[in-house]
Amino acid sequence: MRGIILAGGTGSRLFPLTKVTNKHLLPVYDKPMIYYPLKTLVDAGISDIMIVSGRGHAGHFLELLGSGADFGVRLTYEIQENAGGIAQALGLAEKWADDEAVAVILGDNIFQDSVKDDISSFTTGAKIFLKEVPDAERFGVAELGKDRVISIEEKPKQPKSNYAVTGLYLYDPEVFSIIRTLKPSGRGELEITDVNNEYLTQNMMQYAILKGYWSDAGTFNSLIRASVLVQKNSQQQYADE
Ligand code: G1P
Repeated sequence: MRGIILAGGTGSRLFPLTKVTNKHLLPVYDKPMIYYPLKTLVDAGISDIMIVSGRGHAGHFLELLGSGADFGVRLTYEIQENAGGIAQALGLAEKWADDEAVAVILGDNIFQDSVKDDISSFTTGAKIFLKEVPDAERFGVAELGKDRVISIEEKPKQPKSNYAVTGLYLYDPEVFSIIRTLKPSGRGELEITDVNNEYLTQNMMQYAILKGYWSDAGTFNSLIRASVLVQKNSQQQYADE
């Protein structure tokens, strides 16, 4: 399986922090944000990883992460010319993915759990990772039935559950054909939630519920929350050693 980190977007919710740099380069406790999703993929055993970023700061990602040798992986870089959404950014990786399954992670998502087993056992369809949150209306939200996801709504005003769809997705190569059928949403973007709902319609979607902490880091409050979660966890590990 190949890994894809989506690090595009304008970071408008973090302005003026993002006026002269990219959101994914901002600090989360003691590291640049993008280190965390990169580590999630590396720890899951993925060795070929593409980073998709916008035009403005692509060179900074290259300078920060280089070939990937420091992390024991091979990095490839791709540019999303315009902010057309997560699914559009993923579509840019089609050729590079070369008919392999892909693990897609959003560059501002911080996960504590290891997903190594989910990745090594993945075969076809798609898999999403859910986390119970107090503010589900900020996310894609999964409506859960008995042992299955019934529907996913993107940022619903009245969420049908407290289960946020986190920014980590496993897809078979079929995902690229699905992306080609998408139409832009109300906010003018190709939505990853529409991709996931297509897998649901085809009855090809699995899910897991995360046990450890999870946070996005794309708003002022979630950015500091992510830093505090990582700080607490690293101090805990230090105390345990
Ligand atoms: C995106 C997805 C949303 C998901 C979230 C996770 O939202 O559209 O479904 O729950 O990432 O961080 P965005 O942060 O781009 O608004």
